[in-house]
Amino acid sequence: MTEWDIRVLGTAEELAAAEDLQRMVWPGSEADIVPVHLLLTAAHNGGLAAGAFVDDRLVGFVFGFPGLDTTVSPPRLKHCSHMLGVHSDFRGSGMGHALKCFQWQHVRQQGIERVTWTYDPLLARNAQLNICKLGAVCNTYLRNLYGDMRDGLNAGLPSDRFQVDWWVNSERVTARMTERPRPRRGLADHLTAGAAKINPSFADEPASPPSVRPADWPEGPALALQIPADFQDLRARDLTLALKWRLSTRAVFEELFDRGYLVSDFVYEAGPPPRAHYVLRPAGL
Ligand SMILES: CC(C)(COP(=O)(O)OP(=O)(O)OC[C@H]1O[C@@H](n2cnc3c(N)ncnc32)[C@H](O)[C@@H]1OP(=O)(O)O)[C@@H](O)C(=O)NCCC(=O)NCCS
Repeated sequence: MTEWDIRVLGTAEELAAAEDLQRMVWPGSEADIVPVHLLLTAAHNGGLAAGAFVDDRLVGFVFGFPGLDTTVSPPRLKHCSHMLGVHSDFRGSGMGHALKCFQWQHVRQQGIERVTWTYDPLLARNAQLNICKLGAVCNTYLRNLYGDMRDGLNAGLPSDRFQVDWWVNSERVTARMTERPRPRRGLADHLTAGAAKINPSFADEPASPPSVRPADWPEGPALALQIPADFQDLRARDLTLALKWRLSTRAVFEELFDRGYLVSDFVYEAGPPPRAHYVLRPAGL
């Protein structure tokens, strides 16, 4: 098992290494790199840039800064988590979760209760980390948030994003930050508890995205929506189909959020074949 050390990145030299790591994680667009001077200014003014080191080499980092939630009056302090990146050799090792734990401690020490960030809802690995492992929830869908992105992970599709809420003092989140997190629910557990599937099951080659006829959707205390298990692979093979998935799931999530649903869980089953499902339930349940 890989061992790493996580510490604050505070000097220009340390943050230059974070710039280099960004080039590896989001290849192809120099314009999308957060430069040292901005990382440094945020880090010296209540923000956090922290790095994961293996043998003194920076291989993961998390970056965020304080912000204001202006949707409430008076505006309330929150932490905007802007970037989380792990070198491809270390993904799936728990490093992303460990970096978020470090951020969680920092934010709690500042007395801030809420962290927000965005991610592409069709990326199963990110959903597994954000929703399942960290306990973030989501009922905010942002269309083409960053406009046309040019980096290798995002080019070619509208940059739709979930904005998630991470209530750092909630029981839901603190329970997931302990050494022994709660047992996870599989899809079968959710179905047994009454969840209904929005789209028919598919194996590893998703042919068509869910149809958007809300009138046909099942009733239930929760709804399960299957997404492609590897959207990046689908996107690389068939951009037209990937776009259909983007537009169809956009419509589904927007409709469900309008109806008061909240993304409350994500289930990734490695298979074979691998299957990935969001679970949504009415907010407040
Ligand atoms: C997102 C990212 C930071 C996660 O880092 P990480 O070190 O892999 O995270 P973790 O290992 O803590 O958690 C990832 C989880 O996804 C699981 N996973 C791995 N491959 C997966 C896949 N193809 N589909 C779904 N889940 C997957 C892992 O097994 C792990 O879950 P587990 O602990 O339940 O097994 C990393 O993948 C990354 O840098 N991606 C590119 C940049 C990016 O998208 N950043 C986030 C948006 S700014």
